[in-house]
Amino acid sequence: MIARLCEAGDLTEDWRPSFERVPRHLFIPDKVWEDGTNGPTRLGRSEDPYAWLNLAYSDQPVITQLDDGDCSGRGYVSSSASMPSIVAMMLRRLNATHGMKVLEIGTGTGWNAGLLSARLGARNVVSVEVDAELAERARKALADAGHQPQVITADGMDGWLPSAPYDRVLATAAVQRVPYAWVAQARPGGLIVTPWGTSFHNGALACLTVDNHGTASGYFGGNVAFMWARSQRTPHGSVEDRVRLEHDYVETHTLLYPREPVSDFDASFAIGLRVPGMKSTVVFDGDRVGPNFTVYLMDPVSGAWASWRIDQGADTYIVRQHGPRRLFDELEAAYAWWRQAGRPTHDRFGLTVNESTQIVWLDSPDQMISWRV
Ligand SMILES: C[S@@+](CC[C@H](N)C(=O)[O-])C[C@H]1O[C@@H](n2cnc3c(N)ncnc32)[C@H](O)[C@@H]1O
Repeated sequence: MIARLCEAGDLTEDWRPSFERVPRHLFIPDKVWEDGTNGPTRLGRSEDPYAWLNLAYSDQPVITQLDDGDCSGRGYVSSSASMPSIVAMMLRRLNATHGMKVLEIGTGTGWNAGLLSARLGARNVVSVEVDAELAERARKALADAGHQPQVITADGMDGWLPSAPYDRVLATAAVQRVPYAWVAQARPGGLIVTPWGTSFHNGALACLTVDNHGTASGYFGGNVAFMWARSQRTPHGSVEDRVRLEHDYVETHTLLYPREPVSDFDASFAIGLRVPGMKSTVVFDGDRVGPNFTVYLMDPVSGAWASWRIDQGADTYIVRQHGPRRLFDELEAAYAWWRQAGRPTHDRFGLTVNESTQIVWLDSPDQMISWRV
């Protein structure tokens, strides 16, 4: 795995010794799930040791918990060992060197905290995990692997004040809003690296530099999809829960095909910025990827939804919209804006976070695109 990561340019020479000293399989629990098109499938070390080890050393995320550990849940991924190439890329972007103190948010298996400890020294690493059981398992795996950074059971959205200030803050759970505690607990000149997204798009990597006045600012860059930090998840709910037979709707037709607005990384990133609170789900006929499908756009807060029906060979596509927002119209307008703006890639956008606001801009902080308190 290490050779493959180096060959692909994902793992650089400075991080290679840490990867060699901290074997990933020591952090993978015996019972895991493999991600697939039909959802997670169970994989046990004792039942299939070869497949288990193979998964541990493939460039894949390994799912280690569903539904926050609730066995009766619906199968939502709530913890995993992140994909090795993404771990390596984020460590590279963190630009951490010996002697720096790092705060990691989202200990998960502890592998990343182990990699950081091997490079920076365990006393310079603090890792916060919201789930007590996962934190305990990570502490044990880290100790077994010979590293003992501080692993704290707490809500990482508050950072970890007792060990502040930090030179680097690395989040391995995605946020829609960067907690100000991370900025306040970083040293001036420090760096915050975090997956960041919207309810429509998860997500891009934000790399923010903290200044002397308590503001963090920087560009997005990198395609990373992470599970949301617990308190920043958009509420779950299926299409059946939200799109009900008794709902009235307005029906129109469109020529717009969903591929670019829904699936293109840069287009959907920009649309998510312009259309807050909108989730999307694609339902294929017969539950298999095929030419006929419906895109559902939903706002869990207001209850508004839109369905966008694609039948192969049709001249136009039927759109139905219900509720206080016209979600399809909002998406169409945001997509038109993105095209008119010259189809900017996500790495031309940036983020500025201060104590009261979070501003997303295009090219420079004076070109504001979206604003949140
Ligand atoms: C993708 S996993 C992290 C992978 C981990 N860095 C590793 O090396 O295995 C994301 C983790 O973030 C944790 N998490 C989610 N919300 C959190 C929060 N508010 N504070 C701390 N941890 C959180 C989840 O429980 C999960 O274990």
